[in-house]
Amino acid sequence: MLTKPIQEEEKQSQKDSTIGSYWITTFGCQMNKADSERMAGTLEKIGYSRAVDEFKADLVLYNTCTIRDSAQQKVYSFLGKQVKRKHNSPKLKLVVAGCLAQQEGESLLRRVPEIDLIMGPQHVNNLENLLSRVDSGNQVVATEETFISEDITNARRDSSICGWVNVIYGCNERCSYCVVPSVRGKEQSRYPYAIKNEIKTLAHNNFKEVTLLGQNIDAYGRDLPGLKKDGTKENTLTDLLYFIHDVEGIRRIRFATSHPRYFSKRLIKACYELDKVCEHFHIPFQSGNDEILRSMARGYSINKYKKIIENIRLLMPNASITADAIVAFPGETDQQYRDTLKLITEIGFDQVMTAAYSPRPNTPAAIWDNQIPEEVKKERLKEINELVDKTARKRNQRYLNNIESVLIEGLNPKNTSQMMGRTRTNRLTFVDIPKNNEFNYLIGEEHNIKITEARSFSLSGQIYN
Ligand code: SAH
Ligand code: SF4
Ligand code: F3S
Repeated sequence: MLTKPIQEEEKQSQKDSTIGSYWITTFGCQMNKADSERMAGTLEKIGYSRAVDEFKADLVLYNTCTIRDSAQQKVYSFLGKQVKRKHNSPKLKLVVAGCLAQQEGESLLRRVPEIDLIMGPQHVNNLENLLSRVDSGNQVVATEETFISEDITNARRDSSICGWVNVIYGCNERCSYCVVPSVRGKEQSRYPYAIKNEIKTLAHNNFKEVTLLGQNIDAYGRDLPGLKKDGTKENTLTDLLYFIHDVEGIRRIRFATSHPRYFSKRLIKACYELDKVCEHFHIPFQSGNDEILRSMARGYSINKYKKIIENIRLLMPNASITADAIVAFPGETDQQYRDTLKLITEIGFDQVMTAAYSPRPNTPAAIWDNQIPEEVKKERLKEINELVDKTARKRNQRYLNNIESVLIEGLNPKNTSQMMGRTRTNRLTFVDIPKNNEFNYLIGEEHNIKITEARSFSLSGQIYN
């Protein structure tokens, strides 16, 4: 009979037999964060333990982003330091994963021959195999287009309360500025039951919140079979929300990123009807001008965008609306840029992630001859950021003195006399630890918080009973 102490001993010896330590730095978006968690899970499964110091780790994995040139350059500067280290410690394994790896492929190896493994985002679930080829002495490049296997149960998640859940990989849009379709490949939706199983496992492990992820999440299901008898499709994002809603233990459901071209009224209705779906919508508009939207190939007009927001607010007046916007897109006149500012004021966004246009490889807009000078890009970005900050600060005032339900996620790493969590509308909220210093029992639960301070990015408040 196997007794408990022996099991413990086995566990201990498994720990001792770690084959080295690993370090992952994640650049870019939530999609990359989710991928990194799955790769960390694989590394731990094959015997690596998490390193405490990036510069002492035996395996360093950079999960890279290439959305703008600045993101790409950042990766090269990180890599440079590890390459130097590798010259003194040849056993160091260097892995470059993610979107820049996909974009550059073999040519990255020519630029940085010290890399052991280059792997695109579609190969995340295949890390174990790829590493075993490295261990047999090969330099490996895995960037071919591939079917993403359903094997994502072993993620090593950073949070124990909120979990990312991929629902669709890739993107079939062709926005003229964007590198994502060429680095993330064609849309591939996961099957509803696989998604639900993952959410059930999260619930079983006491997770309270899930965020469904896709670059264009409204495309979910387009590539799946499944027509209902009446001819309608039963695999849309809306159907998925209804399908997963009953998973016991999960309190909050979020999704990102929405595309105005496909955002449906039916989806808004589902968000309104389904209690767990949070009142936060991240719907990038990119530009406030129809002509620019056309040259971006976005496939909607500002009127359509406004209508979506109007419909959301009709049912959920307090919903939080956030977005992304690009300034200084090729050919953008001052007037067209001002249309973007106007839209921000008109809608009153809760937050807008802004960026100046950056030409990307293999994208149409990169080779147009009407590029905007750097100084203008800088000026526009500065001005729009000031406006966004002002608008967000003003918007956030609506929370003052409210009682908000906040899911407490842990301590504030920057000030451990506070806990932190988020409202249903995704506002980061800092909460004072109660006077009796008891807080552990509060973590992982939703609590009523009286909001006492509102800034542009975050709120502060106290437990309200
Ligand atoms: N799939 C989402 C966003 C993907 S990328 C969507 O369709 O909106 C995240 C954001 O990066 C984009 O919303 C856009 O605002 C920004 N971005 C993408 N390509 C860019 C480029 N070439 N230059 C500047 N910003 C860019
Ligand atoms: Fe890029 Fe457009 Fe796809 Fe978003 S929808 S990832 S901006 S191509
Ligand atoms: Fe960057 Fe790739 Fe995400 S380019 S923004 S990490 S999809």
